[in-house]
Amino acid sequence: MGDIESEVARHYGAEGLLERIAEAVGAGPGQPIDREALGQIDEFHIGGAAATLRLIGGLPVMAESHILDIGCGIGGPARLIAAETGARVTGIDLTETFVSVAEELSRRTGQGERLSFVCASALDLPFDDGSFDLATLLHVGMNIADKEGLMREAARVLRAGGRLAIYDVMQTGSGAPDFPVPWAADAATSFLARPGEYADCAAKAGFETVHECQRREEALDFFADRRARLADRKASGLPPPPGLNLVMGADAAAKIANLTTAIEQGHIAPVEMIFRKTRPGA
Ligand SMILES: C[S@@+](CC[C@H](N)C(=O)[O-])C[C@H]1O[C@@H](n2cnc3c(N)ncnc32)[C@H](O)[C@@H]1O
Repeated sequence: MGDIESEVARHYGAEGLLERIAEAVGAGPGQPIDREALGQIDEFHIGGAAATLRLIGGLPVMAESHILDIGCGIGGPARLIAAETGARVTGIDLTETFVSVAEELSRRTGQGERLSFVCASALDLPFDDGSFDLATLLHVGMNIADKEGLMREAARVLRAGGRLAIYDVMQTGSGAPDFPVPWAADAATSFLARPGEYADCAAKAGFETVHECQRREEALDFFADRRARLADRKASGLPPPPGLNLVMGADAAAKIANLTTAIEQGHIAPVEMIFRKTRPGA
């Protein structure tokens, strides 16, 4: 693992995460966990489960499909996609604790057979050429400087005609966010790129672009809705519901505030891009 990757894994790594999650959903040691009860906790990207379903909505996914979720975090998108489509999903992630939490949560939600998780880098995928029908990448590219390498590896492990579905925070204006943001404590591990840079790197790797859509308005609605729900609970004397703060750590509020401000200012926005592998890479 290179210096940047070690730093990224350190940023996300958290002690006692599984125990905190199990406690938040009221599951004792080793007890089964209801996948839907994890809803606010295990989708580490803007828009939660709805954004995952929107991303893969128009794609030809069947129960026979094998999907690779690159940068799978604690496995929420993988569990949701497997539950909705019946497909087999393999997740890979740099952060060792996330991979072990993903495995254990999937076992305890009863999905262990359809899901597997491996600790690995997106830039060096431990799979044969042409192994997957679809690869997904949700809020991961912001940590990866080498977008060409990212696209090259994704293209390599996809079969001809396979799709790569990306939902990343991208640079859409000229300013930078203040730090920390959810993916980085400072600029050293933040590599925001424009949609055009993703498309150029994808084209070099042998992909054609079949869909691109900026989701700024949806992101602002998502954060406004979240603020309103938190305010309602506070007014009723209730604590915030268990959510991504369990995964993001003590400075979760500052990370979300900086992210929201940069989206409001038009510097950055989440963007969906779908690519289809049409030919061997250059
Ligand atoms: C913001 S989280 C998103 C997790 C997940 N995709 C989701 O939406 O719930 C970013 C994840 O990308 C992983 N990641 C960052 N750089 C990576 C790389 N080079 N290879 C593999 N995983 C990486 C991190 O460890 C982290 O789990």
